[in-house]
Amino acid sequence: LRLNGAPQIDEEGFVGRERELERLRTWLAPRPKRQNVVALCGLGGIGKTQLSIQFATRFGEAYSFVFWFNAKDENTVKAGLVVLAAQLVDNYTSSSVTNPQEEDRIVEQARQWLSQAANDRWLLVYDNYDDPCLPGIPSSTGYDIRKFFPHCVHGSILITTRSRRITFAKQLQLEKLDDIGQSLKILAARSGREVIGGKENCSERQMSFLVNYPSIC
Ligand SMILES: Nc1ncnc2c1ncn2[C@@H]1O[C@H](COP(=O)(O)OP(=O)(O)OP(=O)(O)O)[C@@H](O)[C@H]1O
Ligand SMILES: [Mg+2]
Repeated sequence: LRLNGAPQIDEEGFVGRERELERLRTWLAPRPKRQNVVALCGLGGIGKTQLSIQFATRFGEAYSFVFWFNAKDENTVKAGLVVLAAQLVDNYTSSSVTNPQEEDRIVEQARQWLSQAANDRWLLVYDNYDDPCLPGIPSSTGYDIRKFFPHCVHGSILITTRSRRITFAKQLQLEKLDDIGQSLKILAARSGREVIGGKENCSERQMSFLVNYPSIC
């Protein structure tokens, strides 16, 4: 399990999302000679990154290895692939990559490695792919994440994104938590303060704000 720099919260701090975890387990189960691609979509702060990390941590044993990338932009994905190559393919350190051509060569090496026929049980998490540039979705700043997939159609890929238009993947829409108690637990953890009285102490309107805007809260 290689979560290189993923923003992890304490495992005990994670609440809810059991239904979604089960869905991901089914959709991303390793299958010989087939590729699973799932896009976890939803508003900023709704919990996509934490769910993807929880999934990788809880079910990582089903895979030969798990690797997390920050897919915010092309450069962060490339940097992640260089780290993957350094850790899994070859014995060099990623800091020895000094120029873009060298970086591209190593990125390609990592993709080749992921494409090997015997290496088909991995899980890759591409987190924060919020700026896609895809057929029918123009973006001067975005990119097509598929150019960083392995050449071979195998393995399991989980993308998290604010976009609803990642149509090449099976989409799982993440909604707000349906249990107010769980939202209060997150609020308490994030603010470092106890939420006294919980449900009983909040008005209906406050509750609705809390549940609908978890990132702000
Ligand atoms: N299931 C959860 N259990 C506990 N805390 C959570 C959970 N989901 C989200 N959080 C809290 O909410 C914060 C925001 O969640 P997260 O970073 O996963 O959102 P996101 O959907 O990935 O947002 P963005 O689109 O900005 O990347 C987390 O840092 C964490 O504190
Ligand atoms: Mg995120």
